[in-house]
Amino acid sequence: MIPKDAHQPVPEFDETAQDALMDAFIEAIIVMDENGRIERFNQAAVDMFGMTAEEAIGGDVSALMPEPDHGKHAGYIDRYLSTRKPHIIGIGREVTARKKDGTLFPVHLAVGEVGWQGTVRFIGMIRDLTDDKLAEERRLRQHTDMITASRLTTMGEMAAAMAHEINQPLAAIANYASAAERLLEAGPENIDDVQSALARIKAQSHRAGDIIRKLRSFVRPDSASLIAADLKATIEEISALAELDARANNISLKIEIAEHMPGIVADGLQIQQVILNLLRNGIDAMIDTEPANRSLELHGYVSGADEVRIDVIDQGHGISDDVAANLFTPFYTTKPGGMGMGLAISQTIVKSHGGTLGFENNPGGGTTFYVTLPTKVT
Ligand SMILES: Nc1ncnc2c1ncn2[C@@H]1O[C@H](COP(=O)(O)OP(=O)(O)OP(=O)(O)O)[C@@H](O)[C@H]1O
Ligand SMILES: [Mg+2]
Repeated sequence: MIPKDAHQPVPEFDETAQDALMDAFIEAIIVMDENGRIERFNQAAVDMFGMTAEEAIGGDVSALMPEPDHGKHAGYIDRYLSTRKPHIIGIGREVTARKKDGTLFPVHLAVGEVGWQGTVRFIGMIRDLTDDKLAEERRLRQHTDMITASRLTTMGEMAAAMAHEINQPLAAIANYASAAERLLEAGPENIDDVQSALARIKAQSHRAGDIIRKLRSFVRPDSASLIAADLKATIEEISALAELDARANNISLKIEIAEHMPGIVADGLQIQQVILNLLRNGIDAMIDTEPANRSLELHGYVSGADEVRIDVIDQGHGISDDVAANLFTPFYTTKPGGMGMGLAISQTIVKSHGGTLGFENNPGGGTTFYVTLPTKVT
């Protein structure tokens, strides 16, 4: 620490001090006379242009600018001196600069004018934009990737669907496991129930395994997954799972499927995913519905000469116009924990089966989502 009252001679701010000051700048600083002849060249300029100060000083600044700036540079200065209209001088802009070895690189160049004792000098401040340009390029490339990704192919959507659907058996497994835990805690006499919970866990893990195997078949799509299917049986296979979900939310679930339904040609697992998605959305929509009115219904029936239809009817909050406009957009969700893939995926699945997926708000409140599927392959 220097004592405040110490009278020390202030050293003269000579050329060495000026050089030191200039070298402290991160930006390249070049001082030139009114003809563009370089007088000073700081350390950052040395690093940026790959030439020593000695090599630069005395040379023309235009050596650092390729065509078209090269050659025009003297013109910039003349024009500025005669018009005082800033072009580069006084404002700064992006130009291309040239290193000693000829490499071109983007820079931001600002030129200031210094008048001193009847002379005019210019100070060029130059910032290397190479990294900025690279970052911009990277951003652009990412953006392009995103656009490509948003045009989700059926295959890509299916892969996402599979990942999404794996959550369902996993959730069921967790439910059954905690049930088994509780049963065991209650006493050894429940061993039979525990065994049945374990059997369900096993079945659900097989289901998860099936889904994962599906992933592979989507990478190499094969029409073998489309088989003659019984819609009633297909839906009944998942009814226990749906009921578990409904009961956990105090919702009564009623499944009614007409007898003697014509067969469909379908990937049963995918149709199950669609139905589970619709049921789960219906359940979610009824969180705020009075418990007495919480009912979810599934109706399966013949709806045309070559068509079957499944209605999933809830008593939930319904769908506003805003939500309706985005419903099938991937990743659109109004739920805190939602992924927003359920309907996008379901629609892809249904379309790939030649069917339709739609919805209508019920007159008495709630929403009906419907799926139609062709009973004949066209
Ligand atoms: N039966 C319904 N009643 C009211 N709104 C619904 C219903 N089904 C879907 N929605 C609305 O559509 C949105 C998108 O549904 P989607 O199933 O695609 O995604 P999500 O359920 O939010 O999330 P996830 O895909 O993880 O299930 C939901 O967030 C919800 O706002
Ligand atoms: Mg959903």
